[in-house]
Amino acid sequence: MAKPIKTTLPPGMAVPVHIGVIMDGNGRWAKKRGMPRKVGHREGAKNFRAITRYAKALGVKYITFYAFSTENWKRPQDEVDAIMELFEKYLDEVRDFIEENIRVRFIGDRSMLSETLQKKMKSVEEDSLDFDSMTLVLAINYGGRDDICHSVKNIVQMAIDGKIKADDVTEDMIEQNLYTEEIPAADLIIRPSGEQRLSNFLIWQSAYAEFYYTNILWPDFRGKDLEDAIIAFNERNRRYGGV
Ligand code: IPE
Ligand code: IPE
Ligand code: MG
Repeated sequence: MAKPIKTTLPPGMAVPVHIGVIMDGNGRWAKKRGMPRKVGHREGAKNFRAITRYAKALGVKYITFYAFSTENWKRPQDEVDAIMELFEKYLDEVRDFIEENIRVRFIGDRSMLSETLQKKMKSVEEDSLDFDSMTLVLAINYGGRDDICHSVKNIVQMAIDGKIKADDVTEDMIEQNLYTEEIPAADLIIRPSGEQRLSNFLIWQSAYAEFYYTNILWPDFRGKDLEDAIIAFNERNRRYGGV
């Protein structure tokens, strides 16, 4: 069992229900140290577990980590292989979360992943189905555009089956057919590493999210940095188009 975490968020802060994290900067972290990029991915993967535990201690209900995008296949094969190997290793370790009452879910197109990986994903999801202290969402081979495309395909199939007509399509229906299904929209999107873009992360789900950027590289991102993002979030005025 992991030892209890002491958080330092000032009292009275609202904790976002759903935080999305773009785990960026692993490659640059390794380069700075004269090491191969895959070492950065290894450090980044370790860090995601630490931040998951920290988020749970803060009372975050949903946290989504962007681990591999639909565009990341463009990378050199040896880097892609190294990342896939890490997923397999970490999926075994993600099982520890089950002891901590954390539900684990995956979003993205699994059909491109190895059978072993797919099996592990399915079994972790099934075994953690009833846990409710926090939901950990891992975005693997995820793309926001692909997510919307996947939803549209489901809806078109319902139309072909005669269950719905064009006029029955609503925002709710599109949402319920996304990979995220009943997961609430993102409140806060955090991107370390200095880049200020979404890179095809939760496009639909972040329509009204607040964005937080920091120059820290993902392997160096700590619980304190998560707290800084939450403090910044508390200073925002979310108007949703109102006044
Ligand atoms: C993010 O780190 C991890 C993945 C995209 C899998 P990067 O590998 O993109 O790190 P940088 O941006 O090159 O530093
Ligand atoms: C976004 O990072 C994807 C993940 C962190 C998984 P990238 O490093 O792939 O994004 P770009 O290419 O800089 O936009
Ligand atoms: Mg990057």
